[in-house]
Amino acid sequence: MAAGAGTRISARQLIGLIGELDPGKPVYDALAERVRLLVTDGRIPAGTRLPSEREFAVQTGRSRTTIVAAYQSLRDAGYLVSRRGSGSRVTLPGSDRRNAAAGSRTIDFARAVPPPVEGLRDIVVRAGHRMAEALDGPGFDLLGNVTLRGSIAQRYTERGLPTTPDQIMVTMGGQHAISLIAHTFLARADVALIEAPTYPHAYDALRRAGARLVTTPVTTAGWDLEHLRDTLAAARPALAYLVPDFHNPTGASMPPEVRVEVARAARALGTTLVIDETTADLNIDRAWDDGPFARHAKRRSPSDGSGIITVGSLSKSIWGGLRLGWIRADTAVIRRLANARPAGDLGTPQMEQILGEQILAAMPQLLGRRQELLIEHRTVLTRLLQEHLPQWIVPHPEGGLSLWVQLDKPASSALTSLSEAHGLSLVAGPKFSVDGAFERHIRLPFTSPIADLEDGVLLLAQAWKQFSVRDVAGPEAPRLPSMV
Ligand SMILES: Cc1ncc(COP(=O)(O)O)c(C=O)c1O
Repeated sequence: MAAGAGTRISARQLIGLIGELDPGKPVYDALAERVRLLVTDGRIPAGTRLPSEREFAVQTGRSRTTIVAAYQSLRDAGYLVSRRGSGSRVTLPGSDRRNAAAGSRTIDFARAVPPPVEGLRDIVVRAGHRMAEALDGPGFDLLGNVTLRGSIAQRYTERGLPTTPDQIMVTMGGQHAISLIAHTFLARADVALIEAPTYPHAYDALRRAGARLVTTPVTTAGWDLEHLRDTLAAARPALAYLVPDFHNPTGASMPPEVRVEVARAARALGTTLVIDETTADLNIDRAWDDGPFARHAKRRSPSDGSGIITVGSLSKSIWGGLRLGWIRADTAVIRRLANARPAGDLGTPQMEQILGEQILAAMPQLLGRRQELLIEHRTVLTRLLQEHLPQWIVPHPEGGLSLWVQLDKPASSALTSLSEAHGLSLVAGPKFSVDGAFERHIRLPFTSPIADLEDGVLLLAQAWKQFSVRDVAGPEAPRLPSMV
């Protein structure tokens, strides 16, 4: 992301984010379309002030008339508000308006949000009578209630990583955990290593905590261990954020022997590993399970987590509406997090935790149901894509919630804009990296209802066809004219 909400984006940053323009449109229109996309997918946060029309015209080498027309088009579509004296700020128009523009409802291929796992409704109903217990105390706590922490710790222990309740902090989801860890353990200008691509809200949290980011590649085939080790050695990051099980967005799994090496390299350099296992319970058909990554920590004493902090969550395996996650770490780390936490929030609601206890007791059955849904949905989306977009390379992930699809042209952002006009919301590949790469990729979640997967792929194919027809340069070298 180039700028935080309420801040200013420079003309150079904006030009970098806009990249290549769609050749099939007048320049002002193509420019406005790109800015709309950047605002919609959050790469330019709402509230960001754009450069003045005059400055932007000078920096892009375009005529003032073109830039004025682009800004006007953004204003007309509700993406820009200009006030004399305070410049032009981007905004998000109401979703009603977007849906109206599409002429119907919008199908959501942007969020990888699965439905509540089958069986959850019964658990909620049964837990209902226990909710009143929350009224006996303050109803929230910083560390989490001891029963739930005990159940989470027991699950780690059963999976091969001995854990005590005081090594667990219950959080309000995985994202909350990542943000709390980032703000507690990073100082301004510390280096943090992330994967490319990666889960965007994680790198955003690290950056907002002041980190300078370095990246290591991950593909659908996995990690490049040599690159990862070299980058750790060269950058000596304070923290490395990794998603080793059913990596978002590629779906890749880190092989056990690579885990051993990564843990060893990080330990030798004093780099804290933040291992995000939010997606680790989303196995579809991976034949092996190496247990929690932190099994590879070398403990020197019972209170020594050897620099591995694990993040977990029920959002993906059970339901995102629960907002229940956790951090597993050495007890000293948990204490530091507990000291830092009240600056951001005062604790996790007790009612949610009561439900969490019931869910953990039924975890094996619930995960079995989740797996059935994922198998079916992955199969359907794969078949639809092979049928309607055979020119794309569709991977076969062994777990996770989405397909990291390779397009036959580097046009992910253009596809995202066009799809929006067709009533399909997507997140363009570049959103998953900090440097705007991945124009050849799009993440397609298979979490929507089957009917939406079917309708969504038809819309996707229509949008791609429209794009291909307009692409005068041919499929292999779509040299869209650069805007600068
Ligand atoms: C890898 C990863 N970590 C964390 C999160 C956030 O999880 P939660 O909804 O529990 O905050 C997500 C959500 O997409 C994710 O994919």
